[in-house]
Amino acid sequence: MKLIERSKLAASAFAFVSLASVSASFIESTPAVAKVPQQPAILTGSAVAVADKYAADAAEQVFKEGGNAVDAAVAIAFTLAVTYPEAGNIGGGGFMTLYVNGKPYFIDYRERAPLAATRNMYLDDQGNVIAGKSLYGYDAVGVPGTVAGMWEAQRRFGKLKWKQVLAPAIHYARDGFEVSDQLAQRRDAASKEFAGKTNFDQYFGGMNEGVNFKQPQLASVLTRIANDGAKDFYNGKTADLIAASMRGHGLITKQDLQQYKAVWRQPIEANWNGYRIITAPPPSSGGIGLVQLLKMKADLAPYFKDVSLNSAQYVHLIAEIEKRVFADRAQYLGDPDFYKVPIAQLTDDAYIAKRAAEVNENTPSDTKSVQPGLGTLMPEKAETTHFSVVDKWGNAVSNTYTINGYFGSGVVADGTGIVLNDEMDDFSAKPGVPNMFGVVGSDANAIEPKKRPLSSMTPTILTKDGKVSLVIGTPGGSRIFTSIFQVVNNIYDFHMPLKDAVAAMRFHHQLLPPNTIFWEPYQPVDGELAKAIEAKGYVLKGQNFSGDIQAIKIDGDTPLPAADPRGRGVTRVVQ
Ligand code: DON
Repeated sequence: MKLIERSKLAASAFAFVSLASVSASFIESTPAVAKVPQQPAILTGSAVAVADKYAADAAEQVFKEGGNAVDAAVAIAFTLAVTYPEAGNIGGGGFMTLYVNGKPYFIDYRERAPLAATRNMYLDDQGNVIAGKSLYGYDAVGVPGTVAGMWEAQRRFGKLKWKQVLAPAIHYARDGFEVSDQLAQRRDAASKEFAGKTNFDQYFGGMNEGVNFKQPQLASVLTRIANDGAKDFYNGKTADLIAASMRGHGLITKQDLQQYKAVWRQPIEANWNGYRIITAPPPSSGGIGLVQLLKMKADLAPYFKDVSLNSAQYVHLIAEIEKRVFADRAQYLGDPDFYKVPIAQLTDDAYIAKRAAEVNENTPSDTKSVQPGLGTLMPEKAETTHFSVVDKWGNAVSNTYTINGYFGSGVVADGTGIVLNDEMDDFSAKPGVPNMFGVVGSDANAIEPKKRPLSSMTPTILTKDGKVSLVIGTPGGSRIFTSIFQVVNNIYDFHMPLKDAVAAMRFHHQLLPPNTIFWEPYQPVDGELAKAIEAKGYVLKGQNFSGDIQAIKIDGDTPLPAADPRGRGVTRVVQ
């Protein structure tokens, strides 16, 4: 499976550029929009759990300058685009779930299909999917949304000047950062994968482990974005460079960039176990999936009584639940701007209880018998990274963004240093044919111009009595919401400390391939456990990546962050 190959990839002295070196133009003349009124501090500090140490440094600097969680999140996002180029990005897109001044918000800055995209663009004359076309090179690229999303979020809720939050990223692009062994290894693997297909090596060939890596073209792009705002990326010099780079190779034009819009949406909200879950709505499948998983498990509490964590019986029951969630995902979920997704029905307590009742306590249900739960109802036409942030005023940001596979399409837009995504692979190229993550889709996720491909990204916040309790998310494609589900179970059902909950073994099932449980390399399969699971009728299969959770739990008034030991993430608490 493609995931296995691509997942092999997966998966200082801090001197920021001085603000004086960023020329004043658009930003200085733009009046500040409604900013968050100053609240009294309610936590002992602000905290982050992020994918690398440079992003943590950037967040610390922003907090010290008086910034809030949204300022820190935007600084982290731009920094990771420089220092974590395998997944951090401005050439991709994502989702941000926010909790600001006691209210939930969600911004969708997912990539969109280009205007010239067509339903069958990845099929040959015989109607078969052309291998790799939606994964590598210019054809795989969706119109990027990250800059628009960060701009919207910071303008609406940030406290600092836009230029201030761009400064750390500009510093790392201009002056360089030290390349980690993990990044160098991922680059080596990507280089083999993209060989002869893209210009990847021209840009990243000179990057060496332990050596400072500078990206002057990317520094120029970021400086223009700092000066001119998002309009540089969508209608300025950077837009021209991206369009020129695409001309004669791919579909994206300047018109695509000019028409791109990030969208504020209603997050999915649900009550569970005394908590309020705030999570990602469509075009993510993750929020609906997470709510279904958590509630189905709660409905089946009697089955779980005395079942120990990660025992064969536990794996079986979780897989049974996951089967039903993935059957719904394949049928009903897509971009809500194109299809009316039945969100209320899919998250309805009675519906979820009915699905839970179909779970077979003892043996795996026959895969073919697990159908989408709302019947034949057709929806009406109508390497990723995560970071979690809380500030001392009690605001929170949960952000997952992606260029899909590590280093995306492998294309670096000429003259920019921008790594472009391969998000088009998240569409269903042909009904029933699995994508890189092995998941299938239907009409609801077919390719259409300007449509957003279905995602699994699930940036999530749990609150209790109106206060943030947990901020959590991860990369991992279709493993995203099953990973979050397991960590949430570890915390709240098994009462594990956050670090242990994040580190504990994870597994995955997604309906197809039939009765297959995917393991991860981080916690090797135990011989006896493997035998017990196989004896129940499952096939065990390895996978190279099972997420990189970044989470913050608030205990009383103290934020406790945890970064997944599977990655190179770090945490930071700033008083
Ligand atoms: O949106 C999605 O669901 C995928 N494009 C996410 C990709 C991902 O998590 C890659 N990380 N391993």
